[in-house]
Amino acid sequence: MWWHRCQTAYHGPRREGRLRDALLVREGEPVAKPADWSTWHDRYEDPQSPLSLRLALVQEETRKAIERRPPGPIRLVSICAGQGRDVIGVLAGHPRQGDVAAALLEFDPENVEQARRHALAAGLANVSATVADASCTDCYDGVVPADVILICGVFGHLSPDDVRRTISYLPHLCAPGATIVWTRHAGLRHGSANLTPSMRTWFQESSFEELAFRTTADGHGVGAHQLVAPPKPYEPGLRLFTFLDPTPK
Ligand SMILES: C[S@@+](CC[C@H](N)C(=O)[O-])C[C@H]1O[C@@H](n2cnc3c(N)ncnc32)[C@H](O)[C@@H]1O
Repeated sequence: MWWHRCQTAYHGPRREGRLRDALLVREGEPVAKPADWSTWHDRYEDPQSPLSLRLALVQEETRKAIERRPPGPIRLVSICAGQGRDVIGVLAGHPRQGDVAAALLEFDPENVEQARRHALAAGLANVSATVADASCTDCYDGVVPADVILICGVFGHLSPDDVRRTISYLPHLCAPGATIVWTRHAGLRHGSANLTPSMRTWFQESSFEELAFRTTADGHGVGAHQLVAPPKPYEPGLRLFTFLDPTPK
């Protein structure tokens, strides 16, 4: 497989950039907060928004993935976790919440702070939110092999090559029989129209069996795939993808 080593710096949104942008306001001008990956989550506040409808499917598949695991500890990892609303919403009040150790890996410190706040408010002591560059495999040290992996709101921001590369690396992060819950909008993103048919093939080629694939009325695809071959060894120091959108569209 065509892996790159993690050498280059992270290319995604940076807090300092947002602060700098916020300062580019002349006296007397209305202050508009620049779009960022923290305010992007405000769309979840409307339960009828396309993003909330996607969230409902993600949560349903995550709940099923947890409930499929045999009794005992469950390791969950969320890649580019944002504020962790999917994971926290499922674990809050779930009878197996005490079994689940969840690692939310997210680059934006504000989102990490929010995730910690939400987890605390929901009484979830086993949810850790960490500022991390999830594109480099280094940050998975200690939290994999995972039984459940979420990669939601990520694939639409990668080149098709990086989507394929990331899918093919997932068996290296998995415990036996792990489930991946993933999303990808059916629309045009970074030069590629609906990539989900290809992605479903790439999951299959990487030894995943499709458990579910649904698309919301707005075109958000939500999939759940289970590893049906032995996992592969974890290797640190590899770059999986470059997150192409510094700010949300
Ligand atoms: C579209 S949001 C999705 C958030 C969450 N997974 C969800 O579905 O609600 C994408 C998130 O990826 C984060 N992100 C971008 N590049 C990242 C990286 N290299 N490592 C970790 N997080 C990253 C952004 O800060 C943002 O919160």
